[in-house]
Amino acid sequence: MSELAKEVAAEVAKRRTFAIISHPDAGKTTITEKVLLHGQKLQKAGTVKGKKSGQHAKSDWMEMEKERGISVTTSVMQFPYHDELVNLLDTPGHEDFSEDTYRTLTAVDSCLMVIDSAKGVETRTIKLMDVTRLRDTPILTFMNKVDRDTRDPFELLDEVENVLKIMCAPITWPIGSGKNFKGVYHLIRDETIFYKSGQGHRIQEVDIIKGLDNPELDKRIGVWADELREQIDLVRGASNEFDQEMFMAGELTPVFFGTALGNFGVDHMLDGLVEWAPTPLGRETDKAQTVSADSPDFSGFVFKIQANMDPKHRDRVAFMRIVSGKYEKGMKMKHVRLGKDVRIADALTFLAGDRAHVDEAFPGDIIGLHNHGTIQIGDTFTAGDDFKFAGIPNFAPELFRRIRLKDPLKQKQLLKGLVQLSEEGAVQVFRPLISNDLIVGAVGVLQFDVVVHRLKSEYNVDAIYENIQVATARWVYSSDSKKLDEFRRKAEHNLALDGGDNLTYIAPTMANLSLTQERYPDIEFEHTREH
Ligand code: G4P
Repeated sequence: MSELAKEVAAEVAKRRTFAIISHPDAGKTTITEKVLLHGQKLQKAGTVKGKKSGQHAKSDWMEMEKERGISVTTSVMQFPYHDELVNLLDTPGHEDFSEDTYRTLTAVDSCLMVIDSAKGVETRTIKLMDVTRLRDTPILTFMNKVDRDTRDPFELLDEVENVLKIMCAPITWPIGSGKNFKGVYHLIRDETIFYKSGQGHRIQEVDIIKGLDNPELDKRIGVWADELREQIDLVRGASNEFDQEMFMAGELTPVFFGTALGNFGVDHMLDGLVEWAPTPLGRETDKAQTVSADSPDFSGFVFKIQANMDPKHRDRVAFMRIVSGKYEKGMKMKHVRLGKDVRIADALTFLAGDRAHVDEAFPGDIIGLHNHGTIQIGDTFTAGDDFKFAGIPNFAPELFRRIRLKDPLKQKQLLKGLVQLSEEGAVQVFRPLISNDLIVGAVGVLQFDVVVHRLKSEYNVDAIYENIQVATARWVYSSDSKKLDEFRRKAEHNLALDGGDNLTYIAPTMANLSLTQERYPDIEFEHTREH
């Protein structure tokens, strides 16, 4: 094995790359904060977000997010935990951003599902779990907010199993909840770990009693000790034990109980993450070959583009997940779609939203590339090979509006802004072949507001929407170029180019789409476009 191969393999073995999935308000931001505290990246937890104190998550970059208290962007945080290096990718929190979230989830190897223990499984969690199923991503579960009155823990596990169709293996078990929350019993370590309130802002001193039968336990928590023993009997009898293979297949989830706000239990979850979660996994390509993370040849794919992340910098950053090999400052890599070699000297990493230039990075890491409009979502970069990574789709938008300028002289800026925003993948822009209209397509309503807001603040363009009769859009292809030309002529009034100049059929109604599909059997109408 070459020195480089050895180095890459050693770095791969250290890394875990994950994202948090949850319903809004379950505690994702608070957990992120505490995870970073454990990673010692924040002196004192609480700097990520405090709606009340007026501080905002460093991962919330945009003004709009501050106003709405939602996370529109995806940020990336890297921190050490024990001897490992953990990458946490923040997923957009709002329901409207499912497409963005989807793509972020293609860049991780495992997920942490956070559930509010008073509420149980909520709608957004169900949707996100569906997304993780597409790649059978391993899932860890954190039952949050046990410092409040919660539902019965057995009931919570049942709900996860029945609704989300994943088996639960409790790793820790809560003793009481709300005011009576005493701590958790760790089923694998056979330890009771005690909770102390008011310690949320620092790493708690570990206060444990070894052994469930230890008489010290009775001295410490009185009647709760016997109740705990009974419960643990039941747990051991009725629920699943942790199984590494089933976890890796996304069939079983280890479950931890705790309180993010009280900073209790987050470390147990992190211990589980570094012990069990997969090290960076390879990715499939269009060449029926999977690239393994251990391969010494560099490769990576872009899953996210963010414009003007920092108004001071006014740039666009492409987020690349490194799949294999090693990034070194100043290295040459091949931008496969353009068939061009590029030299990258100024890639960024993101420590809780702070930018830092990076000299080297390894599989599982996310680096930010400055983008001057040449990089698109889904682009593959390699050491010279010609494959592309598969599976980073664009979804056909479901909502459409015509966008119009208040000041007609700014048409050029408007188009530029829209094309750049569509490169990010948050919205899509369509230019009909036969008119000067601009049509914006989105997966969720909120995205329309985001676009107008950003056009104003970043491109100084005032735009408004008008309704338009469009039901759906389909990307059109044909292996027969003559047939495609003919279709292009005959259906001209319903055809448009998207932000990347791909031909799209804009259907006024679903019935129109079916009829058109019947009429042109040699044309393919695609609901997703793989980048
Ligand atoms: P999200 O990112 O998933 O949307 O959730 P976030 O962490 O913002 O948490 C939502 C609310 O739940 C916050 O309260 C937060 O303080 C609270 N919370 C999170 N974890 C726990 C916990 O373990 N126990 C308790 N009791 N509360 C928790 P908020 O009042 O809405 O926000 P803030 O004004 O305190 O920021």
